[in-house]
Amino acid sequence: MRHLLHLMNLKQDEFFTLLKRGIEFKNNRLLNPTALKNKSIALLFEKASTRTRISFSIAIQELGGHYLVLHANELQLGRGETIEDTTYVLSRYLDGIMIRTNSQKKLETMANLNVLPVINGLSDLYHPCQALADYMTIYDLGMPLDKIKIAFIGEPNNVFNSLVLGSIYTKTKIAIACPDGFDIHPIVKNIIKQYQKEIEIYKNPKEAVKNANVIYTDVWVSMGQEKEAEIRKKVFQPYSVNKDLLQYAPDDVIVMHCLPAHRGEEITDEVMDQFSHIIFQQAENRLHIQKAILEWIFGLI
Ligand code: CP
Ligand code: NVA
Repeated sequence: MRHLLHLMNLKQDEFFTLLKRGIEFKNNRLLNPTALKNKSIALLFEKASTRTRISFSIAIQELGGHYLVLHANELQLGRGETIEDTTYVLSRYLDGIMIRTNSQKKLETMANLNVLPVINGLSDLYHPCQALADYMTIYDLGMPLDKIKIAFIGEPNNVFNSLVLGSIYTKTKIAIACPDGFDIHPIVKNIIKQYQKEIEIYKNPKEAVKNANVIYTDVWVSMGQEKEAEIRKKVFQPYSVNKDLLQYAPDDVIVMHCLPAHRGEEITDEVMDQFSHIIFQQAENRLHIQKAILEWIFGLI
């Protein structure tokens, strides 16, 4: 049984198969319309979502399957039923589940029961579906993944972590600019060490974007961090992706954002609008790559 809890669940060739398959779906939206015939997949959310929720819903529908969107606080899960009991019961009805959760551990608990395939639709630690869409986007733009550098400006969070794991397959150079006190997660550090991956770490965003082909940013306050919003907005102020920062990057650099964006914070209106053709393509590609992920999770590719 396959699970996608993080990108290390894929083999190198599977990672590239998914990117290429995503591009096939982008070029032919109605490909494989009966792939998920008679399959029911739940999308379970402990946090808000626009792109993940809708792209998975439409992907499942266009592959001929059934989806149902569940909110944790409307299930008995929210009233103390254990994750194990919930998973055993869900497995009696469903063929697979995608979950967006506060806890990577919860995903692992579900997957370890091995009673239904589990997809991580964002956790505190990773966002694998997002990073797959991002690498698909860059690859589809014709940029050589093994020769480019992505400079991530902001917190080394779930999105950054998944971009790092993906870069182990793609050999993409990764730089990060973040303030003191926002260290890379120990689990990700261990993976970096294990695969002898080198990450350029800067405090100054202007240094990080030198020679960058892609500048990537994400919100300063992730879901679940709202209590720290005030302090984070202060600390990350110098990490805004704005026109001035772009002056320090090559002329042909592109800017990416996983969305939702907080315009005027991590990215200015002006930069967001200049690169909206890339950023909204990233969002669209979530749909195409979800189809590839669904085919993979059910062993169809
Ligand atoms: N990028 C992303 O996962 O968006 P949502 O939070 O809207 O799903
Ligand atoms: N880092 C953000 C990503 C949103 C898609 C969050 O976790 O809220």
